Amino acid sequence: MMKGMAKFVVAKLVLVLLVSTTRALSVFDVTKEGAKIGSDINQALTSSWSKACASTIPSKVLIPKGIFLLSPVTLEGPCKAAIEVEVQGTVKALTNSKVTKEGSWITFQRIEHFTLSGGGTFDGQGAKTWGTCGNNFCKTLPINIRFDFIIKGLVHNIKSLNSKQFHINVLGCNDLTFQRVNIIAPADSPNTDGIHIGRSSGINIIDSNIGTGDDCVSIGDGSKNISVTNVKCGPGHGISIGSLGKFEKEEPVLGITVKNCTLTNTDNGVRIKTWPASTVNSASMIHFENIIMNNVSNPILIDQVYCPWNQCNAKVPSRVKLSNISFKRIRGTSSTPVAMKLVCSSGMPCQGVEVADIQLKYLGKEPAKSECSNVKPMISGVVNPPACSSKA
Ligand SMILES: *[C@@H]1O[C@H](CO)[C@@H](O)[C@H](O)[C@H]1NC(C)=O
Ligand SMILES: *[C@@H]1O[C@H](CO)[C@@H](O)[C@H](O)[C@H]1NC(C)=O
Ligand SMILES: *[C@@H]1O[C@H](CO)[C@@H](O)[C@H](O)[C@H]1NC(C)=O
Ligand SMILES: *[C@@H]1O[C@H](CO)[C@@H](O)[C@H](O)[C@H]1NC(C)=O
Repeated sequence: MMKGMAKFVVAKLVLVLLVSTTRALSVFDVTKEGAKIGSDINQALTSSWSKACASTIPSKVLIPKGIFLLSPVTLEGPCKAAIEVEVQGTVKALTNSKVTKEGSWITFQRIEHFTLSGGGTFDGQGAKTWGTCGNNFCKTLPINIRFDFIIKGLVHNIKSLNSKQFHINVLGCNDLTFQRVNIIAPADSPNTDGIHIGRSSGINIIDSNIGTGDDCVSIGDGSKNISVTNVKCGPGHGISIGSLGKFEKEEPVLGITVKNCTLTNTDNGVRIKTWPASTVNSASMIHFENIIMNNVSNPILIDQVYCPWNQCNAKVPSRVKLSNISFKRIRGTSSTPVAMKLVCSSGMPCQGVEVADIQLKYLGKEPAKSECSNVKPMISGVVNPPACSSKA
């Protein structure tokens, strides 16, 4: 009896030891490296990062509660073990528009097993720089946070506020999840895309709120296996694939699922946009399902004649091939009469477009309508407005 008990206790001890060693974590608090509330913590953060990154057991860099300033910084791997940055407080960018060499305020780069967490805020202090750089993306203003070449990462419970340019940019990442990320900037702040993804695979955006001045989520060339679930967007320009076809050597977009999202007062709902007179590319296996639209202009939109500010020859058809695209269970209200617009390329008509269970009402007096060109969608369930009732 006693012997059995002793064995049990020993086994339990071993278990506790095992659990505690696998969960051991070295913590590097930036205030131990000289960070002071109200001043620039760049050096303290950089040196905490270097120590944490060199740790052979999992480590954490901690920015505790309080308001700190931070000048542009690149936190770079590879690190010796898993690494987490926990931001409990608020870090504020300086109001000038200095950038890292990657064009950001903060870059996390070349890290495997990375976590960003803590409930804290990244305040880009963008207000004074908005509009100083024209309407296009311009490299002289910093992106709030860049994630470059992250493999296996989780970004959760953080807030990005008033970025000067995009809030979050994802490039060359694989298996990176954003959960409970809150993004806030005013509707009229230019180029403040929420999360832009390019050349990445296995990216998940879940349970997040994004209200900003440009696209909520934008998915650029080379994006594969991306899912956007339970995301609330608005204000902003909606969830967008593209624009595609503007540049040489773009890579295909493949496997995008947007589901269970709500868009409120946005300038577009779910859209795919490609340039006329474009380079050759393709986008396929793109599924939008279970989406609620509240007062959205252009709730459902394929736009293969996307050419803002007449930057292209709109007469030459787009050479981006769109195929296997579905719009299912999309309901709510449109602030423009054309609630569904599927304008495909005359040079490369869309293929395998499926439209099912659509209930969209125009908020004005007339019934909502749809416009289509160069597409013959498969239609199922109740679709209102009727799909492709007139030509675009
Ligand atoms: C898609 O990405 C997820 C990670 O987000 C991964 O688990 C899954 O295996 C990937 N699927 C494909 C087909 O690459
Ligand atoms: C869809 O969203 C609703 C509310 O926003 C949530 O309750 C539900 O669990 C979500 N469903 C899925 C499959 O994520
Ligand atoms: C609907 O959206 C338009 C802009 O697209 C906006 O001006 C208007 O205030 C919104 N209406 C409501 C009720 O939110
Ligand atoms: C589109 O779907 C069809 C039928 O399911 C399939 O045969 C084809 O390979 C798909 N094309 C692409 C580019 O995914």
